[in-house]
Amino acid sequence: MSILSKNRFTITSALPYSNGPLHIGHLAGAYIPGDIFVRFLRLKNKDVVYVCGSDEHGAAITIKAKKEGVTPKEIIDKYNALIKESFEEFGIQFDIYHRTSEQIHHELSQEFFTNLYEKGEFVEKFSEQYYDEEFNQFLADRYIVGTCPHCHSEGAYGDQCEKCGTSLNPTDLINPKSTLSGKTPVLKETKHWYLPLDKYQPWLENWLIEGKKDVLKSNVFGQCQSWLKFGLQPRSMTRDLDWGVDVPLEEAIGKKLYVWLDAPIGYISATKQWALDNRKNWEDYWKTQQNPEEDSTLIHFIGKDNIVFHCIIFPAILHAHGDYILPQNVPANEFLNLEGDKLSTSRNHAVWLHEYLQEFPGKQDELRYVLTSILPETSDSEFTWKDFQARVNNELVAILGNFVNRVMVLSHKYFNGLVSIGSVLTDHDQTILAELEKFPKEIEKSLTQYRFREALSHFMNIGRLGNKYLADEEPWKIYKEDEERVKTVLYVAAQIVANLSLIAQAFLPKTADKLLSMLNLQAQDWNKVGSDSLLENGHKLGESQLLFEKITDEQVAFQLQKLADAKALNVLEATTVEPAKPNISYDDFLKMDIRIGTIIEAEKVAKTKKLLKLKVDTGIDQRTIVSGIAEFFSPEDIVGKQVSILVNLEPRNIKGITSQGMILMAEDTDGRLDFVNPKTSIKEGSSVR
Ligand code: 2FM
Ligand code: ZN
Repeated sequence: MSILSKNRFTITSALPYSNGPLHIGHLAGAYIPGDIFVRFLRLKNKDVVYVCGSDEHGAAITIKAKKEGVTPKEIIDKYNALIKESFEEFGIQFDIYHRTSEQIHHELSQEFFTNLYEKGEFVEKFSEQYYDEEFNQFLADRYIVGTCPHCHSEGAYGDQCEKCGTSLNPTDLINPKSTLSGKTPVLKETKHWYLPLDKYQPWLENWLIEGKKDVLKSNVFGQCQSWLKFGLQPRSMTRDLDWGVDVPLEEAIGKKLYVWLDAPIGYISATKQWALDNRKNWEDYWKTQQNPEEDSTLIHFIGKDNIVFHCIIFPAILHAHGDYILPQNVPANEFLNLEGDKLSTSRNHAVWLHEYLQEFPGKQDELRYVLTSILPETSDSEFTWKDFQARVNNELVAILGNFVNRVMVLSHKYFNGLVSIGSVLTDHDQTILAELEKFPKEIEKSLTQYRFREALSHFMNIGRLGNKYLADEEPWKIYKEDEERVKTVLYVAAQIVANLSLIAQAFLPKTADKLLSMLNLQAQDWNKVGSDSLLENGHKLGESQLLFEKITDEQVAFQLQKLADAKALNVLEATTVEPAKPNISYDDFLKMDIRIGTIIEAEKVAKTKKLLKLKVDTGIDQRTIVSGIAEFFSPEDIVGKQVSILVNLEPRNIKGITSQGMILMAEDTDGRLDFVNPKTSIKEGSSVR
């Protein structure tokens, strides 16, 4: 059954973290597809609410604040404003762009928690969690990184590996490290409230695997299937953090809700705020209705890293609550790459929307068009500036712009902008109009299956049809001998332009406005699309405007240079030597007792990658030292080597071994290690000063 048999829709696009500006990858992931879909539903006169907002909790925010030395509030205010403006500029037509830091959101999130708590849904568990002793903080989610236990890539977060998408707990990570101090954390006991995803597994299997096999896109379905196959684990819904929504329990003072519990509830609180502002009933868009036929259809537009949260965790929460509708679909996109490399905020390898807007003023639709043409709908895709130039110049300018321009210029030149039917329509005219009539159905089919690239290519094919029609008829050649025929040709061509203007409302909002104004036509809904008489006989066209301009080689070169500069800066930063530490006194220096010693035994410390247990002759004694050099030296190669040893460092317990001192190593900016040792053999116990 087509989704268009439904009347009410609740559409969401992922709430971006307000910890940085948006780039083209964001637009291509969750926002352009959501916006096109919503624009289309509105053209179909559906009752739609489209919500989004800033995700303002979680470690993503606090880590950024710490890095910049400002408060989390300063971070969220700054980026919320920047992000909101970018969305507005690109015509992403949310009904509301809300914030999860608002009171109404905190209250609703707490209501959800209390509802589940009172139903006894949570499993309360004391457990050992990673703790950074230097920063006195438990390390949840993004505060901890390590190696993913599934795909073995480095840099997986405590809650998720972004490489393979697997949802993780911090204790799953191999070789965990605090992102605060960079150190290996210790385990410490704490109490948390867990959502028993394992208990919901049978329900999820039925709802998702049985129920959504033919609904979900294959990339989304595949991910869901593999998580369920792997077996779901209980997931903590609370955190030991100082930024977020308070856990509404006496015994949990100081704890916060897990950001992935509160963030999707942000869709609902945003709707609540919108309903308050617009005299609507938010429950119509979120709660199950007495008559299930009247339930709103919930669709989440997201990027692939958010699939588990929208297909498994949030539905489980909604299900456990019981009063809410569940997502009908989650058409997640894969990732967009840039110039052969992954988009990266930290490496500044990105096309930032606020910068694009300054560098290409008024060219929002050009970017919307190109991104829609290359959306990563089924697999990762690639943005390059050369391709951007080619698509703008060869498609928007040469096909769409050229066709519209010819119709406008000729109509004004020959008939003062008057559209008139002239003589009878020929067979060719009828064939063209019949073809035109078929497009809306094709586009509708593509859009309802979330195939936005295909839908856009149909749209551009209408421009191609128009150009071919003019090229075949050559009205400029026959004007002198058959003015009536030219009227008819321009009448047919103007109907094509009028259709383009209505369909453009779904894809290219600024272009649609320009076209409608050029045609002197009112915006109309989708029912009118395909019509051969959108412009009546005798209609007067408006003024012609420039639709698109060519992107120059200089503009492309400028953008490529910007990316190259960012890359060069990264290399420079990576190879820059650390600045000197603050001065110390000579007495402080003398406190260090550094001696030359010889390694007499060496072995790997079991279950570690980096550690070697060494026995060294210091000249004073023979002692054990644990050293993190195993990635660079194998035990058999270093026995007999002379090394420098800090012999009066307090003994430390490392993996159950008492380490008495430290071997001094030189470390370069890539983290490569080498010994600091004498060129010729020196007696053990000799001082290093
Ligand atoms: O990945 C992200 O950027 C998250 N802030 C998305 C949240 S979507 C929703 F659940 F709020
Ligand atoms: Zn992984």
